[in-house]
Amino acid sequence: MKIQKNISLKKYNTFGINAKAKFFCEIKSTHELQKTLQLNDYPDRLILSGGSNMLLAKDIEALVLYINIKGKEIIAEDDDHVHLKVMAGEVWHDMVLWCLEHNYGGLENMSLIPGNTGTAPIQNIGAYGVELKEVFECCEVMNIEDQSTRSFTTEDCNFGYRDSYFKNEGKGKYIITSVTFKLTKRNHKLNTSYGAINAELERKGIKNPTIKDVSEAVVTIRQSKLPDPAELGNSGSFFKNPVLSKSEFDQFISRHPDAKYFMVSDDEYKIPAGWLIEQCGFKGKRYGDAGVHKNQALVLVNYGSATGAEIIGLAEKIMEKVHETYGIRISPEVNIIK
Ligand code: EPU
Repeated sequence: MKIQKNISLKKYNTFGINAKAKFFCEIKSTHELQKTLQLNDYPDRLILSGGSNMLLAKDIEALVLYINIKGKEIIAEDDDHVHLKVMAGEVWHDMVLWCLEHNYGGLENMSLIPGNTGTAPIQNIGAYGVELKEVFECCEVMNIEDQSTRSFTTEDCNFGYRDSYFKNEGKGKYIITSVTFKLTKRNHKLNTSYGAINAELERKGIKNPTIKDVSEAVVTIRQSKLPDPAELGNSGSFFKNPVLSKSEFDQFISRHPDAKYFMVSDDEYKIPAGWLIEQCGFKGKRYGDAGVHKNQALVLVNYGSATGAEIIGLAEKIMEKVHETYGIRISPEVNIIK
């Protein structure tokens, strides 16, 4: 492992923000990770992997650890299931495609999510009616402080909507080095009821979809709504969908009967932040090189040379306007690195 100096992070974050790292080190194995964490000269560190859920607000004075540990391993299987261990640096979508090639089911609805496998549990990634926690078995982590390793079960991870132990009590304490999934080998449980999946399958004339068909439908839907970070810098949903209690929701809906919403439980109603932002007139707006995507108002984009501060300025403007108009506070889903 080599410590590099003054490296641009533009190609390491999907927002394409040109922030610099004072020190940068690519990590290709758990052994290298352990050795690097033991270096006394760099007490401040930033852990980076796919860089798909972060906004770099400014240059990074710390040592950036770029986690790029590769590998996949089947650790157990029977006629029905496979237990697949995937190292943290494997690109999520490539791993999903590999699973589909081997007819392993469970990840198809989460096709084309940007980022790497190791960061997926941190925010319990999810899309089109499926969340990571449904296929997750455990993950291996390294303690940053003493470099000890341990395994976290689903229960230990305390997953919630775009949330986990690693965003709360465990924040800044561990680096995830691998994730183990439990996937189906037959009798796949298809989940096609969310949003436009069924409509897309019908449009293609598919009556008995396979997991590959579901994945392809999801890819088509995502590509129609979400910008490709290779073409237009972005971090997917910039905000979380706000969750209202029953009494808050009743008040809200009586004032805005045309609003979109999803009932999460008897006392929880999710309002699509994209709808709120669109109603406030931001969809497709551009301020310098920072903007709101034209097809999905939940996504902020970098047209080329926006700084982190400019994107944050736009996010704040949006949050204020949504609060002023609807009395609802929306909050960022991406990690803002200050
Ligand atoms: N909507 C609007 N205007 C917009 C965007 C959305 O009115 O500009 C409305 C849609 O018409 C729809 C509702 O809002 O009725 C929900 O939209 P959509 O199904 O596109 O989902 P979302 O709530 O906007 C969430 C996730 C996405 C995920 C999709 C599909 C969050 C924060 N975002 O978006 O995740 O792909 O559902 O499951 O939960 C990500 O996390 O980066 C991400 C893209």
